Amino acid sequence: MIDKRFANVLLVALVSVAGVTHAYEAALTQGAELLLPFKKELKSALLSGLEQGPVEALSVCREQAPEIANSLAQGGIRLGRSSHRLRNPENVLPEWARPAMQAYLEDDSNRAAFVVPLADDRWGYAEPIIAQPLCLTCHGEAIPPAVTERIEELYPADRAVGFKAGDLRGVFWLEFPMSRRPDE
Ligand code: HEC
Repeated sequence: MIDKRFANVLLVALVSVAGVTHAYEAALTQGAELLLPFKKELKSALLSGLEQGPVEALSVCREQAPEIANSLAQGGIRLGRSSHRLRNPENVLPEWARPAMQAYLEDDSNRAAFVVPLADDRWGYAEPIIAQPLCLTCHGEAIPPAVTERIEELYPADRAVGFKAGDLRGVFWLEFPMSRRPDE
């Protein structure tokens, strides 16, 4: 938490030299806010899926994650999840978010949110996804055989196993139009 704030402050301090501090600050705040419902809805879908058992929860993840992302992709917003070790090869990382993923991979302790201005007054926001104990049933080192069997069926190119709690699992990414100009 402290690391993240420190890194954000550092980023903002550097950028202020160029005189666009407000835009970066506003983008960090707005990106984090816009991402929140995605994180919450994914978590609750996962939890209710797991109540039915891990094999059933796999289908919940598979169907509901893209549905939730679609339902929140309104007003020019695009969002999703990606990883350096993908389960679903369709969860591709947008080009602009690659430096964020690279930074998280190079420095394990870097948990800072990342923002970047895109074309047409749009911004990109990314933050790391850290594996939690809850995730390991389907992404860990000791996955129940029935779950492995189903994963192999659905995702023959799966690379998203073997994680430990605390490992970088991937990134959340979100593109959005700045809703109000920070200098107004
Ligand atoms: C019940 C099994 C299950 C659990 C538990 C689970 N996942 Fe997944 N995860 C999946 C499946 C299935 C997919 C592929 C979804 C799709 O097709 O888009 C996936 C995809 C992902 C992706 C998208 C990138 C990729 O590899 O395709 C991320 C990131 C991710 N999971 C993170 C997590 C995190 C973090 C947790 C714990 C909070 C978690 N998962 C718990 C089954 C699970």
